Amino acid sequence: MSVKRKLVVGNWKMHGSHAANAELLQGVLSAQPFGCDVAVCVPFPYLSEVAVTLAKGPLAWGAQDVSAHEQGAYTGEVSAAMLAEFGCRYVLVGHSERRAYHGETDQIVADKAKAALARGLTPVVCVGETLAQREAGETASVVKRQLSAVVHALTHCIGEIVVAYEPVWAIGTGRTASPEQAQEVHALLRAQLAAATPQAAQMRLLYGGSVKPDNAAILFGQPDIDGGLIGGAALKAADFVAIARAAG
Ligand code: G3P
Repeated sequence: MSVKRKLVVGNWKMHGSHAANAELLQGVLSAQPFGCDVAVCVPFPYLSEVAVTLAKGPLAWGAQDVSAHEQGAYTGEVSAAMLAEFGCRYVLVGHSERRAYHGETDQIVADKAKAALARGLTPVVCVGETLAQREAGETASVVKRQLSAVVHALTHCIGEIVVAYEPVWAIGTGRTASPEQAQEVHALLRAQLAAATPQAAQMRLLYGGSVKPDNAAILFGQPDIDGGLIGGAALKAADFVAIARAAG
């Protein structure tokens, strides 16, 4: 039986305001301690205030994207060094919304993961298939290809990342992968990681896609699911807290 702590990460996406963030974090903080690791990945402009609010507590924070570049003429981008200055522990990399709306390729995602690690951040590398790909029987090949680019780029550091499996068809749709469907893909990803690093068993593989208080426990109870990446339900303190409690 594994002794690793589960990890629950809230992805706020492009939601928030000073007032809403304060209320949400207060609600989460007042429910601690948790039996799992908990983090929130927030929009860039709020990193400063979130860092102050969470400074002395157990909750970690992070961003939702990072530049693959160190510095330079990259208008609108934010470097890993900048995120580190704001105390970020995690950064999401390759979320399907970045892949779909911003043209992020597997190679760009791998470069971003590498840039994050170089500055001491833990990249949460997101992979997942679309509905069309699932229906075409391509789920395994798609997620393997997405992870393979990162494995190749990071080589011996691959054990330091977190992987999030987020089937695109389950994101924000209310349609969750069944525990069996999610476990099947997580097992594939674990096996792929095991071929690359002896640390694979200790790595945390998160499931994301319509995780809610009423389905979190069964998802997190699967042998290769080590927590969750939570979207909509991370915006309500009571729901996020309930999901964190389901993780441990
Ligand atoms: O990154 C989290 C995410 O994409 C899942 O969103 O709203 O389905 O929990 P949601």
